[in-house]
Amino acid sequence: MPRKIIIDTDPGKDDAVAILLALAAPEAVEVLAVVAVAGNVPLARTAANAAALLELGGRTDIPVYPGCAAPLTRPLVTAEHVHGETGLNGLELPPPARAPEAEHGVDAIIRLLRAEAPGTVTLCLLGPATNLAMALAKAPDIAPRIAEVVWMAGARSEGGNVTPAAEYNVYTDPEAAAVLLASGLKLTLMPLDLTHQLLVTRERLAALRALGTAAARATVAMFSEIDGTPQREREREGIPLHDPTVIAHLIDPTLFGGRQINVEVETASPFARGMTVADWYGVTGRPANALWLNAAAPDRFFALLEQRLARLP
Ligand code: BDR
Ligand code: CA
Repeated sequence: MPRKIIIDTDPGKDDAVAILLALAAPEAVEVLAVVAVAGNVPLARTAANAAALLELGGRTDIPVYPGCAAPLTRPLVTAEHVHGETGLNGLELPPPARAPEAEHGVDAIIRLLRAEAPGTVTLCLLGPATNLAMALAKAPDIAPRIAEVVWMAGARSEGGNVTPAAEYNVYTDPEAAAVLLASGLKLTLMPLDLTHQLLVTRERLAALRALGTAAARATVAMFSEIDGTPQREREREGIPLHDPTVIAHLIDPTLFGGRQINVEVETASPFARGMTVADWYGVTGRPANALWLNAAAPDRFFALLEQRLARLP
């Protein structure tokens, strides 16, 4: 039985690959809805990009709900320097035939969780956690109905990618991160410590190009743009693929390893805003609140991605 999932996302090049991967794995995940959030680019673009990507994957039956247009308490910090003006730098998609829905994404999350059997829906978070934090504030009854939250978020040994201390999704809305970390929900985190091991290299791009499918071509188009990639990423062997780890973990949990630890987030310090204080060695005595995955099998991860993208149109 596939797991029912809601994808909450700010596409975003790596978000785009994550969405395609989910569509390509119906045996593992059933996508109930995609909820857009403001993040890498403003909300109107993330919602339109999500709809266009579903169309690319041949799944216009899946609705897109636009969620929050800004973080809980702070102005939005976008990341066009990584993802381009459109959010999908290098990829030109036609305007989606099915527009995003009128219902707000936060209301859609609440409605869907109430409609499905308790404990059967997993939330896949690929951007700032604003929508889910809002949904929990608006409707606390949904908390026990959530099977699990899997979120690309945080950094410990790698330091940050948007500041020296913070990973982008946590930095952008640290108050929302604090809500999730204190929620008691079953929470799995895919931090930079993990995703920086998963590099799109020239060889891996060539393997994807050889697949010839529209989904693989789209991935290649977005990740060939090494020029649009920040200096710190050009210094590596390739470009890290962050968000698809969330979906890959649901398809094959043996790809990644880690342990249950306590994770807190810094919300007050101007220098360390959004830093995840991840107690890997258990020195604080604070109770574990997240599964922190920081070990990866990169070749198996990319083999999975290739196999699945080969299945799409
Ligand atoms: C995260 O930030 C975004 O730019 C990416 O889409 C990913 O979700 C990586 O820090
Ligand atoms: Ca993202």
